[in-house]
Amino acid sequence: MFSKFALAAAVLSVFQSVVAETCSRQYTIMDGDTCDGISAAQNVSTYQLATVNAGTINSDCTNLQPSTTICLGWEGEDCNTTYVVVAQDTCDSVTAAFNINSTLLYGNNPQIDQACDNIYVGEVLCVASTIQAPPAGSAPVDTAIPSTATAAASATPTSTSSSSSSSDDGDDSDDGDDGDDDDMPFCDEL
Ligand SMILES: *[C@@H]1O[C@H](CO)[C@@H](O)[C@H](O)[C@H]1NC(C)=O
Ligand SMILES: *[C@@H]1O[C@H](CO)[C@@H](O)[C@H](O)[C@H]1NC(C)=O
Ligand SMILES: *[C@@H]1O[C@H](CO)[C@@H](O)[C@H](O)[C@H]1NC(C)=O
Repeated sequence: MFSKFALAAAVLSVFQSVVAETCSRQYTIMDGDTCDGISAAQNVSTYQLATVNAGTINSDCTNLQPSTTICLGWEGEDCNTTYVVVAQDTCDSVTAAFNINSTLLYGNNPQIDQACDNIYVGEVLCVASTIQAPPAGSAPVDTAIPSTATAAASATPTSTSSSSSSSDDGDDSDDGDDGDDDDMPFCDEL
């Protein structure tokens, strides 16, 4: 049952999760940086970078200020096991490649929509095998694909093989296995 004390503790804990986070990693912005570029290089998910910097970096990430320092993760809620989405990736291909279930993928990347049709090329996902990402907090999670990005499903694979450059749009019923494992970088290890 909920006592006044428990309620107060819950309120305090919510308050602390907003205010009293300790930064576990920092990064100093350089000229030409982009949010997803920083994320990919520093092993921070797109969601985590946005969430940790919700007060300073805008949702389009157009206000990065060179030589200012940002926080990359919060103590105890810092996912540093990441994967950069490439063309033709699906949630299934990502979970299979990292041997995680969709509960973990969605828990660590709450911006992914139910149909998983909003992951985009260059997006950085947390693929940890436990829930490590910071909770979404009070603000709604931005699920929109950036206007400059391409949805993974509709992107043409940047395959090095010259033989198959099949870019049939429209009816792309995700055959799952095209014999080209570019989109599953760690398959060999499984
Ligand atoms: C990011 O992760 C990769 C793979 O685990 C590792 O090799 C690399 O050193 C990491 N980079 C940073 C900046 O932590
Ligand atoms: C990743 O985070 C874990 C703690 O969650 C830490 O022990 C490890 O050193 C970190 N790895 C890198 C490359 O920062
Ligand atoms: C997903 O994986 C985690 C970690 O292995 C496990 O605790 C959880 O029960 C799994 N969830 C489902 C729905 O299988």
